[in-house]
Order: sequence, then C-alpha cells, then structure tokens
Amino acid sequence: MESSPVIVALDFPDQASALALVERLDPALCRLKVGKELFTRAGPPVVEALVKRGYEVFLDLKFHDIPNTVAAACDAAADLGVWMMNLHASGGRRMMEAARERLERRGHRPLLVAVTILTSLGEEDLAEVGFQGTPAENVSRLAALAHDCGLDGVVCSPREAAMLRQGLGEAFLLVTPGVRPATAARDDQRRVMMPSDALAAGASHLVIGRPVTGAEDPVAALQKILQSLKKG
Ligand code: C5P
Repeated sequence: MESSPVIVALDFPDQASALALVERLDPALCRLKVGKELFTRAGPPVVEALVKRGYEVFLDLKFHDIPNTVAAACDAAADLGVWMMNLHASGGRRMMEAARERLERRGHRPLLVAVTILTSLGEEDLAEVGFQGTPAENVSRLAALAHDCGLDGVVCSPREAAMLRQGLGEAFLLVTPGVRPATAARDDQRRVMMPSDALAAGASHLVIGRPVTGAEDPVAALQKILQSLKKG
C-alpha cells in the first residue's frame, strides 16, 4: 500500500495513555506525532517505544536556538530513530543549514521541516514582535527561505498549502494540522479543512489528533478518513 498521508497527533500527558491508544492503531495506517507535552513528560523512552512498535515518528519540538545547539538537538532526535523533526524557520539560514548539514552526516537522514508562522499569530501579533506584513506574506517568505536552506518542507495551515505548493514545487513537503473530517467536532480549531480538500490544496501530510485519538474506535475513525481520501 502507498504510505498513508495521516500523522496522528499523540497529545497525551503520559506514556501509558499514549501507548494504550497506539496499541489500537496500526503502523500501516498512519504515522505518529510526539509533541512538547508528551515528550517533556515521558521523554525519549516514549519515542523509542513507538519506533520499536514499527511506527514512523514525527518529533514536533520546534527547535529554535543558536545553530550549534539546534544542530546537536537534531542529531539527538535522529539518534532516537525519528522519521521527521522540525525547527522554526525564524531561527534563520545559518541555524537551518547547520541542522540539515549535521543530519546529512548520518547514513540515513530523517526529514527536517520548518515551522514558518504559528497559525495562532495574527497580523497584529506579528507587528508587535517586529514582523511586517500579513501572516501569508511572512509564511511565503519563511517557507522560501526553508526551501533555499535545503529543508524538506514546512508545517503550514491547509489554507496556505495551495500558495506554497505553487511557489515551491511538487517535492517540498507540506505538513498540515487543522484538518477535520466533515462529521467530526472542530474542538478548539477555528479554521479547519476536510482531509480530502487539504490534499487537493497540496498538503503532503495531514496531522490529525482528536478526531482519531478521541474516537470510540480509533482505527475505524482513521479508516474512514483514509476512505474519504481515496474517494477524493
Ligand atoms: O487534535 P487536533 O487534530 O486539533 O491536533 C492537531 C495537532 O496539530 C496538535 O498536536 C496541535 O498542537 C498541532 N498543531 C495545530 N495547529 C498548528 C500547529 C500545530 O493544531 N498551527
């Protein structure tokens, strides 16, 4: 089977709850995302436990620091066996290139993607921290910089996917959260897009959390999403 575009966000406060959900999933159907909460509470062992169960893991720690520190953190993440990791594009060219170069010293390099502008920030928030222009303008500029630094892609809103796909080509990964099946609750996501629409807009991977992790039958929920993508 062609690999699934769905990355399930494991937003759990401890390893036991995360693994209880994971036991009900299947590595053939999805990849998994470990973020700051779970990693800060459960640490590297949770990532290693997921890798051991055959999952490809996206370690979502959004590194942002001086180039040497970020490069070393990326190397450490790669040692855990993760499939993908991320950093903030606003850390700049030298930081992004140092991270990519450090990973390239390894035989098998995990994917490295950048966060451009957090979707929680509006134009006024950006102005307050000294970023001129609209969020979309900043996203475009930072995504182009990440592309130029040899990164594999960006995390972005599905609403930005079409613009970035057009500007940055077919090979650049666009990892989009904020995705909801038509029948699912929106939770605290304000601007959502259906999985099939996000793929049609150019997303390469869909980060989906609660519609799967909160479902009574997580595999059935996931399979329903995958079916909706086939129909398309
Ligand atoms: O449960 P839900 O599908 O909303 O989870 C989405 C995941 O994607 C969460 O881990 C959330 O932190 C992450 N995320 C997001 N929106 C962004 C960036 C990341 O929802 N703009």
